[in-house]
Amino acid sequence: MKTLSLTYDDIHRGDLILVNQSHALHESAAADLAPVAESAPAVLLRRPAAQALARLMDEIDGWRHIAFVSAWRSRREQQEIWDGSLRENGPEFTRTYVALPGHSEHQTGLAIDLGAKREQIDFIRPDFPYTGPCGDFRRGAAGHGFILRYPEGKEGITGIGHEPWHFRYVGTPHAAIIQSRNMALEEYIDYLRQYPYRGEGLGFTADDGRKARISYIEAGPEPVTLQLPEEASWSLSGNNADGFILTEWR
Ligand code: DAL
Ligand code: ZN
Repeated sequence: MKTLSLTYDDIHRGDLILVNQSHALHESAAADLAPVAESAPAVLLRRPAAQALARLMDEIDGWRHIAFVSAWRSRREQQEIWDGSLRENGPEFTRTYVALPGHSEHQTGLAIDLGAKREQIDFIRPDFPYTGPCGDFRRGAAGHGFILRYPEGKEGITGIGHEPWHFRYVGTPHAAIIQSRNMALEEYIDYLRQYPYRGEGLGFTADDGRKARISYIEAGPEPVTLQLPEEASWSLSGNNADGFILTEWR
């Protein structure tokens, strides 16, 4: 067994961090960035997200058809995009489609905007259709840990307009659960609070028969201590709000 000691600060790190208008990216959420492909050295994501995306692109033969429009951004880049959009598009458009600097998922290295490969691609609102290779990407996304982060009908919850091009890595099995329950990430993070670590947890059976148990651990002023098996049969993430999400595979 391995003893894990989680401090309050640890809530700001992991694949399930919630970053939105009310939850800024914390400065301690240092990203371990890697290029999605050798052919695109400037397109950076956190390593597990980059690897998952490359696997999905291989699976659907997406490389020839799908463009990486924007992946990891520094805070400064987000500020430049915000300022540029304010000048060109005005405040209403900008608040709808650009996150406040310090509050963008792109700064986490867990989000990517995708576009159908064309000569002209709109940088803020790229076209990413529901048919063809882009449709194949959508169907495969959850199985590789990606969700459509800003769905239609959830604008009041996410605070962002419908963005058919913006995908967020949350890992498996979370992406499949979020998609099948038609939840926004905000709703899922809130929903998991009903499944405390000391209770039964939320059960999930993957397509290949593997079973997972997901539970929520509240953070407090004192470090939380957990006893977990040594092997890689579990993963843990902060939620960037008030606690942790533990995923145990059985
Ligand atoms: N377009 C998304 C909301 C961002 O700027 O992070
Ligand atoms: Zn985006």
